Amino acid sequence: MQKRKVSVGIIGCGRMGSAHAYNVTQIPETELTAVCDVDIDRAKKTGDDYGVEFYQNEEAILNNPHIDFVFVATPTPYHVHTVIKAAQRGKHIFCEKPLTLNLEEAKAIKEAVTTNGVHFGMNFMRRQSWLEKRIRELLPTLGEPKMCQAVNINAGYCRQKGDWFADMNICGGYTIDTMIHLLDIMRWWFGEAISVCGNGLLLSPGLPEPMDYTVANITFRSNFVATVSGGWIRRGLSIDEAYYLIGTEGTICYDSLSKTLRVFSKDGSFEETGENTESPHLRLLREFALSIIEDREFAPSLNDGIESLKTALAIVDSIKGGGGLQII
Ligand SMILES: NC(=O)c1ccc[n+]([C@@H]2O[C@H](COP(=O)([O-])OP(=O)(O)OC[C@H]3O[C@@H](n4cnc5c(N)ncnc54)[C@H](O)[C@@H]3O)[C@@H](O)[C@H]2O)c1
Repeated sequence: MQKRKVSVGIIGCGRMGSAHAYNVTQIPETELTAVCDVDIDRAKKTGDDYGVEFYQNEEAILNNPHIDFVFVATPTPYHVHTVIKAAQRGKHIFCEKPLTLNLEEAKAIKEAVTTNGVHFGMNFMRRQSWLEKRIRELLPTLGEPKMCQAVNINAGYCRQKGDWFADMNICGGYTIDTMIHLLDIMRWWFGEAISVCGNGLLLSPGLPEPMDYTVANITFRSNFVATVSGGWIRRGLSIDEAYYLIGTEGTICYDSLSKTLRVFSKDGSFEETGENTESPHLRLLREFALSIIEDREFAPSLNDGIESLKTALAIVDSIKGGGGLQII
């Protein structure tokens, strides 16, 4: 009989891993079997919270024959090591974004995942958010999509020097760590990007208070153009997302301050409000579990992780080069 529940091991019990542990316990098709963290106190806290085994070393999870998939929620530079080992042991993998910080590692992951034939999912959870799903449904009202402005600002960034999330070389800064969500959504809505020009201020240990912002102009294969901007700043008003999409026959607008989606089309105009009735993280995780149980394709896929990383890296290269054009 087909298996109806998959067993999960979580690697990394920090901010995200501990939240994912809770989500795993809320999904009918998943059961939490074990967790691990190099910081044993964190592993113990999460393990005790859900009454499961906890370990300091990921080997205990990777070698456990009862675990079907591992959720990789370690800091980004450690993803590659764990993902490759998990694939080699035949574990399915759900990985936090960004996949890695460079394309060489992304290629090595692709090789391991393909060779071992395991299922792989990227945690681009905005694809399960009501807003991004609804806008995708409404794209035909634009006619031919021409232009987009997308904004995402975290104004509560408070990391200090020494924190891995304040070091460009470890977290990838705003562009690779966080803007990558918008880059994935742009691809999901409008297809492949072909070139970028970026400007901004990259996280730097030289700043008295680390901060980071990026403005990227992106051209897509279809000639669609987007300006995607945002940052990790320390004061002000956060904007989870603002979108302004323009097409030959309509316009779609949303900003998370007014929480109103406005559609202006040649057939008339209307407004909608909505909210996530369930965590997008939880919904995406459930979809991934179902894709394993039913042995079917899942998106956001490994390729989605690699393509969005390519765009993010090209933007960073452009910023470093003073805003020049980067072909992806
Ligand atoms: N999808 C999202 O919206 C989202 C949001 C925030 C962070 N993230 C991503 O999630 C990942 C984790 O971020 P976080 O904020 O939870 O970080 P965190 O620092 O809060 O937690 C990471 C945990 O991993 C542990 N760890 C480090 N190396 C390990 C190893 N080799 N084996 C086991 N545990 C190890 C650390 O001790 C820590 O507890 C990052 O890739 C980050 O970019 C995704």
